[in-house]
Amino acid sequence: MSTSSQVCLRCGEALDELDPRTRCPCGGLLDVRHPAPPWTGPELRAQLASRHAATAPGAGSGVWRYRELILPGHTGSDLISLGEGDTPLLACGPAAGWAGVDALLCKHEGWNPTGSFKDRGMAIGVTQARRVAAQIVACASTGNTSASLAAYAARAGLRALVLIPSGQVASGKLAQAIGYGARTLLVRGDFDDCLRLLEALAGRGGVYPLNSINPFRVEGQKTIMLELLQQLEWTPPDWIVLPAGNLGNTAAFGKALEEALAWGLIDRVPRLAAVQAEGAAAFAWGFEENFARRRRVRAETIATAIRIGDPASWDRAVRSIRRTNGVVTRVSDEEILEAKSVIDGAGIGCEPASAAALAGLRRLVGQGTIRRTESVVAVLTGHLLKDPGSLEAMHLRGQPRGAWANPPLEVDATLEAVVAAAGMG
Ligand code: F0G
Repeated sequence: MSTSSQVCLRCGEALDELDPRTRCPCGGLLDVRHPAPPWTGPELRAQLASRHAATAPGAGSGVWRYRELILPGHTGSDLISLGEGDTPLLACGPAAGWAGVDALLCKHEGWNPTGSFKDRGMAIGVTQARRVAAQIVACASTGNTSASLAAYAARAGLRALVLIPSGQVASGKLAQAIGYGARTLLVRGDFDDCLRLLEALAGRGGVYPLNSINPFRVEGQKTIMLELLQQLEWTPPDWIVLPAGNLGNTAAFGKALEEALAWGLIDRVPRLAAVQAEGAAAFAWGFEENFARRRRVRAETIATAIRIGDPASWDRAVRSIRRTNGVVTRVSDEEILEAKSVIDGAGIGCEPASAAALAGLRRLVGQGTIRRTESVVAVLTGHLLKDPGSLEAMHLRGQPRGAWANPPLEVDATLEAVVAAAGMG
């Protein structure tokens, strides 16, 4: 099998698959292009189905199961894995009812080893880092990328450096980065500053950036789509709704869907609906003007994971939205927290940024863009425990409104007090 290459979306130049640069010399974003897989259509489906029971290290993971479709050039057995992927597709009646659709499935990426979808991109990103003989893997992050990078780097025996905006990262995520041993820098600035600094660092020898600018991260995140389609027995839903910040997932989903169509895994492409927070909605603004120009904003939202003003994967994401006949919308922090309370209350739970997907779905149904009877999968990107601060604000302090507050009650150690407080008296 011939190897893959990294092709610039702007100027078309092709870099070798093992070139450690993660941007084209012209500044454009790179896209990994693969040779055609050894099988297509029903044969490829059968191959993928047979992998579920694989026991070789990493082989059965929800990422490496799709190996020929994401990193075909690497035939070694030294794949980095923490058992990522294989996340559930959960029916959620209360969330469907709240959003106004008949049925809704939630693909919950919070079930990954470090509690977010980032583990899929990081498994392949850190494997690639070792292929290019990187000494230090680094990222800028709103929290989840840094948690995932720290864990996978530790697993691979690589040094990890993470740049996060000081005071703007949820406590669960910061705890993970420190705990897994990454050198953690709290930058006095926002995420966009961190990313700018990371790109400047990337020019220095031995530092391999693992933000979603890195095209191999995108390859790993394609497996969210591939796995979801496989779970649906290759019958695509009408819509896939996802939260959008730095636009890595929007990019990855579009690429995966295009390729799945080309390889005969599906016979039509679902529409993507990317959802941004109103205070960090550069891409939604771009969509409203048909992407006539690139927009940047100074970002502010309670959903810290998507508090991003200058999304890096813009060009790739524009392609995804255009090729899937997709849409981009924006939702307020209030809508995000209300959606979160619905998902949490259904026993599923997620972090605020993930709930933006459900809030966006309700918006789009309200506008008539998505019809009640259409089939929808919402991608929930991170686990509820990532952001305890948002739960404390909602339930202990009744913010932003008291309506969903469920504060714990402190009681005396007597049966009467417990019965009374439990509402059983
Ligand atoms: N949801 C969660 C929970 C995230 O952590 C992120 C991004 C997104 C959605 C948005 O995804 O960037 O692919 O559009 N978090 C990054 C980080 C930026 O550093 O952890 P995207």
